[in-house]
Amino acid sequence: MSQAELSCFEAGCGARYPITEVLFNCRKCGSLLEVVYSKHGSDAAALKRTFRERRMSNAPLDASGVWRYRELFPFLEDYSYVTTLREGSTPLLDAPIAAAYGGLARIAFKHQGFNPTGSFKDNGMTCGVAQARRLGMRRVACVSTGNTSASMAAYAAAAGIEALIFLPHGNISFGKLAQALEYGARTFEVEANFDQILALVRVLAARLGIYLLNSVNPFRIEGQKSIVFEMLDQRDWIAPDWIVLPGGNLGNTSAFGKALREARAIGLIEKMPRLAIIQAEGAAPFYEFMRDHIDSSHGGAFRAVEKPETLATAIRIGDPVSWPKALREVRATDGVVEKVSEQEIADAKAQIGRCGIGCEPASAATLAGIRKLTAGGVIDRDADVVAVLTGNLLKDPDYIYRYHTGKAEAPGGARIESRYANRPVVVPNDADRIAELLR
Ligand code: F0G
Repeated sequence: MSQAELSCFEAGCGARYPITEVLFNCRKCGSLLEVVYSKHGSDAAALKRTFRERRMSNAPLDASGVWRYRELFPFLEDYSYVTTLREGSTPLLDAPIAAAYGGLARIAFKHQGFNPTGSFKDNGMTCGVAQARRLGMRRVACVSTGNTSASMAAYAAAAGIEALIFLPHGNISFGKLAQALEYGARTFEVEANFDQILALVRVLAARLGIYLLNSVNPFRIEGQKSIVFEMLDQRDWIAPDWIVLPGGNLGNTSAFGKALREARAIGLIEKMPRLAIIQAEGAAPFYEFMRDHIDSSHGGAFRAVEKPETLATAIRIGDPVSWPKALREVRATDGVVEKVSEQEIADAKAQIGRCGIGCEPASAATLAGIRKLTAGGVIDRDADVVAVLTGNLLKDPDYIYRYHTGKAEAPGGARIESRYANRPVVVPNDADRIAELLR
């Protein structure tokens, strides 16, 4: 059994804490924490065999596309703490129409929208809630742009823990708000944006002894690593050239980089894929930071976007907590960061729909970014690319209806052109007239 510890992310500090400490930032320097494991002589070939054999098992842990890979995040000694809704096991889908639109010969979408609550958050939440149970926590809390809260509400309900959810009032999709209500979470709509509410929730968590399940919680990051492990397993452990994902609070970027470094270190893969992180133009602090970082030799300070704006409300975040980790992972993978406009997201999303696949707006930032990166010569036409669709199409039907009926407007009021609109047609109850239309 390998030893798991909490470790300060800041290389210069390196403070260590017991895995059972309730802690979200280093007590010495305030930096982010991560879960680290003492060396365990893993045999890559044996692990690959074990993961493959578990796909034939009906045991709940094996049927979970997260816990199937449990040797790669061995922070629990007792798996009876796990609450699983059979998360993960999401498909890797070919999408020729999207590939052509993105300027690629082929593309595969790893579709996290097939998860039990419809987003990639379930991969991390099953781990976060397991840790909460192990610690004996009775209440969990998060601020969310909608998906984290939907996921936390479901897992807390299944685990019999009270869920407290804090949302930016008026700025999350009804689909996501509806999930929190239906799963029975106590839901507060705060008159503030995501970044402001995160500060508020941290105060409340400390004051009331509530367990925080935002992505500052390092156990969520451990669970989200499984998205990469499962994708690699589905490709027989042949790493792609690129993995493309949207960037909001940058927890997923952190998880993907950590997963790739660890998979490489134990010999599960032979080469490192490059990460491409895509942000929405109106909420792109990480893009701006990286651009300045490259342009100036000294490297600028990280500057938050004070009033982030995008219709892709899932990534409407101006002050991403995990940016230092994301910076490390973009560097470790020779990655890139790109930004895309509201129009580009909307059009890319319609193209993903035309593949019979579909996704929510934030997820479509991936294809919009790929189109830009191939046009700019950063990604080759023949590259082997996996893009991660983070959320399900049905998360935000209002956005879809507006686009296809020509009523989409960007946050500043600028019109979004419905270039690939598929308008519904109103017809009389008259077979002759309808037949005429179809001739
Ligand atoms: N895509 C979707 C659908 C999301 O819900 C999120 C984040 C992201 C991408 C960005 O991921 O934050 O790890 O960079 N949603 C969070 C939430 C913030 O509260 O549901 P990230």
